[in-house]
Amino acid sequence: MWVVMDLKKWVWAVLVVLAVAEVGRVLGNVVSFEVQHKFAGRGRNLSAMMSHDVRRRGRLLSAIDLQLGGNGHPSDAGLYFAKIGLGNPPKDYYVQVDTGSDLLWVNCVECVKCPTKSDLGIELTLYDPKASSTSSPVNCDQDFCTSTYEGQLPGCKPGLQCQYSVVYGDGSATAGYFVKDDIQFSRVTGNLQTKLTNGSVVFGCGAKQSGELGSSSEAVDGILGFGESNSSVISQLAAAGKVKKIFSHCLDNVNGGGIFAIGEVVSPKVNSTPMVPNQQHYNVVMKGVDVGGEALDLPTDVFETGDRKGTIIDSGTTLAYLPEAIYVPLMKRILGERPEIKLHMVEEQFACFKYNDNVDDGFPIVRFHFEGSVSLTVHPHDYLFPIDGNAWCFGWINGGLQTKDSKDVILLGDLVLSNKLVVYDIENQTIGWTEYNCSSSIKVKDESGAVYSVGAHNLSSASNLKVGVLLTFLSILIALLHSSVH
Ligand SMILES: *[C@@H]1O[C@H](CO)[C@@H](O)[C@H](O)[C@H]1NC(C)=O
Ligand SMILES: *[C@@H]1O[C@H](CO)[C@@H](O)[C@H](O)[C@H]1NC(C)=O
Ligand SMILES: *[C@@H]1O[C@H](CO)[C@@H](O)[C@H](O)[C@H]1NC(C)=O
Ligand SMILES: *[C@@H]1O[C@H](CO)[C@@H](O)[C@H](O)[C@H]1NC(C)=O
Ligand SMILES: *[C@@H]1O[C@H](CO)[C@@H](O)[C@H](O)[C@H]1NC(C)=O
Repeated sequence: MWVVMDLKKWVWAVLVVLAVAEVGRVLGNVVSFEVQHKFAGRGRNLSAMMSHDVRRRGRLLSAIDLQLGGNGHPSDAGLYFAKIGLGNPPKDYYVQVDTGSDLLWVNCVECVKCPTKSDLGIELTLYDPKASSTSSPVNCDQDFCTSTYEGQLPGCKPGLQCQYSVVYGDGSATAGYFVKDDIQFSRVTGNLQTKLTNGSVVFGCGAKQSGELGSSSEAVDGILGFGESNSSVISQLAAAGKVKKIFSHCLDNVNGGGIFAIGEVVSPKVNSTPMVPNQQHYNVVMKGVDVGGEALDLPTDVFETGDRKGTIIDSGTTLAYLPEAIYVPLMKRILGERPEIKLHMVEEQFACFKYNDNVDDGFPIVRFHFEGSVSLTVHPHDYLFPIDGNAWCFGWINGGLQTKDSKDVILLGDLVLSNKLVVYDIENQTIGWTEYNCSSSIKVKDESGAVYSVGAHNLSSASNLKVGVLLTFLSILIALLHSSVH
């Protein structure tokens, strides 16, 4: 499951070698931390601790309210982030919310190339395991490590820390080691009311970042992967009997921020389509595309699903990437009635043009149709974004994923997900959505049956105009061990 299906084997091999060398270099000084065994007394494995927690607290599954900030404008933040507390005493971290990957990681004190400043109007903080009384290392023979890597890593010896390395679709990467510590989040206790509560999760302590993650001006403290796999925070909290595996987001592209909740959504009602089972990402089945109410004539094989095909829903990606077989007829139809428009390329990937009127009056609505007669509407103001003055660019990217093996993937990011409530029901294996005002509130139900409203948040987000695009799809996790480094 962690083997990269989307990248060619040789790419993967090169990545492993590079990552081993780099992590070996930067983590050289971690060994002392690891052998000091500050928590040597804690021999119990992860599942034992979790079942202990369940017994102690009883099975009262909570609804959780995550505070969001950021926006999906490619020329602005281009990402949504949430605030979480980690450690004891807890410190606040701002992490990008990403339904396209499976791990939570934050920049750590040993970090070699971590951002210290962000233009997003947030203060960045490095996580220090030694400064948290509840932090403990995760060793390679512990359950979390062996189940994440589906078996014990070769060369694993007691006392060796479990390392990780993730490479994202835009080539940026993070590497470090796993730690276990308290996470603090807001449990919903009334209408628009919350109380802080603790959980304990394993997450990545990032020691080395590269690409956008190391240098972007839109820097965050890390990434909160909301994927289905057992390593994600929601899966860990669910395994500890704290939450249901259902979450939803309403990303507000108008005011910024929005709603992010864990728990069953009672209202609004959404129309759902089944998830494709056993995939690395949230995959659904697209059946057709129409423009201004008229169906595009597309070959049916563009909608096939599989390891390198299918439609992926990913909040960690800013735009929408379409295979050429959809992109070309789609653009042709959208531009068909506007022969006066002259496209020019900006930054080699955006098709842009000058336009002075309201784009919603001048361009057609695009609808994607999915299995189960569910459709997703994308307005011109969603798929077009303004850059300087009267210039607009298309957010559709032609076959845009850099790797040859993923050029047939349909990847739907914030461009099409914003201004809708999107519900991921992992338990029932469905994804549903409905157009929604993301500055308002939704109603969620906790296990006691109580129904409460969860409102929108808008963590500060300074604006700076620069085309920056994030792409977390295709994240891969690489197994690493100290012993393989020395
Ligand atoms: C994930 O967790 C579930 C339930 O805790 C377990 O049954 C399953 O085997 C785990 N999967 C992997 C790949 O470890
Ligand atoms: C979280 O746990 C720590 C240590 O167990 C405790 O001191 C703190 O009060 C807890 N916080 C909350 C909000 O429960
Ligand atoms: C969110 O913050 C931005 C920038 O501070 C502000 O313009 C906007 O009105 C805020 N939105 C809401 C819903 O409060
Ligand atoms: C999940 O499916 C079960 C059984 O079909 C159903 O009773 C339940 O209401 C569903 N949950 C949600 C949140 O739709
Ligand atoms: C969205 O909801 C907010 C908060 O309830 C409200 O102030 C705003 O007018 C609504 N926007 C629209 C377009 O209805």
